[in-house]
Amino acid sequence: MGIETEARNFISEIEKLHTIQDIDVAKSKFLGKSGILTQEFKKLSALNSEEKISFGKKLNSIKNQIEEAINNQVKFVKKLELDEKLQAENVDITLPVNNEFGSLHILSYEIKRIKDEYKANGFLILDGPEVETEFFNFDALNIPKYHPARQSQDTFYIEGFPETLLRTQTSCVQIRAMQEKGLPLRMISIGKTYRNDQLDSTHSPMFHQIEGLVVDYNPINIGNLKDALNRIVAFVFEVDSDSVLLRFRPSFFPFTEPGMEVDCCYSKENGNIKINKNGNKWLELGGAGMVHPNVFKACGIDGEAYGFAFGFGLERLVMLKYGINDIRSFYDTDMRILKHYSSISNN
Ligand code: DAH
Repeated sequence: MGIETEARNFISEIEKLHTIQDIDVAKSKFLGKSGILTQEFKKLSALNSEEKISFGKKLNSIKNQIEEAINNQVKFVKKLELDEKLQAENVDITLPVNNEFGSLHILSYEIKRIKDEYKANGFLILDGPEVETEFFNFDALNIPKYHPARQSQDTFYIEGFPETLLRTQTSCVQIRAMQEKGLPLRMISIGKTYRNDQLDSTHSPMFHQIEGLVVDYNPINIGNLKDALNRIVAFVFEVDSDSVLLRFRPSFFPFTEPGMEVDCCYSKENGNIKINKNGNKWLELGGAGMVHPNVFKACGIDGEAYGFAFGFGLERLVMLKYGINDIRSFYDTDMRILKHYSSISNN
């Protein structure tokens, strides 16, 4: 077979190849070191000069045709590959959407639920800064300078800013609220608080508190406090207020007089807590009391004023409510836990 016929066959073969590798293999078969055309070029040296010119011309023209055929085929295959890739990446906008939306974290969900309820009942829902001054976090709350809670092992002070700290309690919002709004006032504040505690299953250096304050120039008594506590416990645990039995233990909070710790009666059934009056256990909720006159004074409130306040740790309540036994579960990003509790909250 003459070289021209071989070249024609080769060109028609090349046009059938659909991968770059196949083209490369074919190319070296024809143009490679021991390729068909290379062998033909080697014959040139044995020819006389006239034959060399005409045969050389012929070979060069074949070489050009072959190279052109190869280049065209490479271009064609590359375009084919690109088309295939685009086709594969094509987004089908008619496909149904993934309807797995995000959901509220269980703490956010409970915070929202409490805020919505108290807003609907005429309470102001207030926030305060998490970076506070000693005045709002301690002084105005009648907490003396020598009080151990002020020490830096409990309180995170902000370096370089004197008398500035991460608030250790939401009670400071009471002060800001009374200073700004005056009396009468009914408010709820829920927010983050910080204490220099080691992180373990029941402690966290950051946790949330629910603060309540009801103050007026008209008399408010401890019975009103008891009623308010009864209602919030019933609401948080989603039980009837008739099944709530509270116990008050005298305690010292400098911003209350009298001050008390509040416990709630419950029993344990199948590992879950059940709030009821006939239970055999007491659950510690937090602190409460009647607002101390010095607190009114620090807020610039003149004359006879009355009121009560309470402050509970939110994580503790939510842990008891849902049977969560490790506070760290709230802040870890374990999707199994987050999804499990979000499905409860979104039903
Ligand atoms: N702030 C207190 C704490 O963090 C809890 C507390 C006690 C809040 C009595 C109050 C209160 O409003 O009246 O331990």
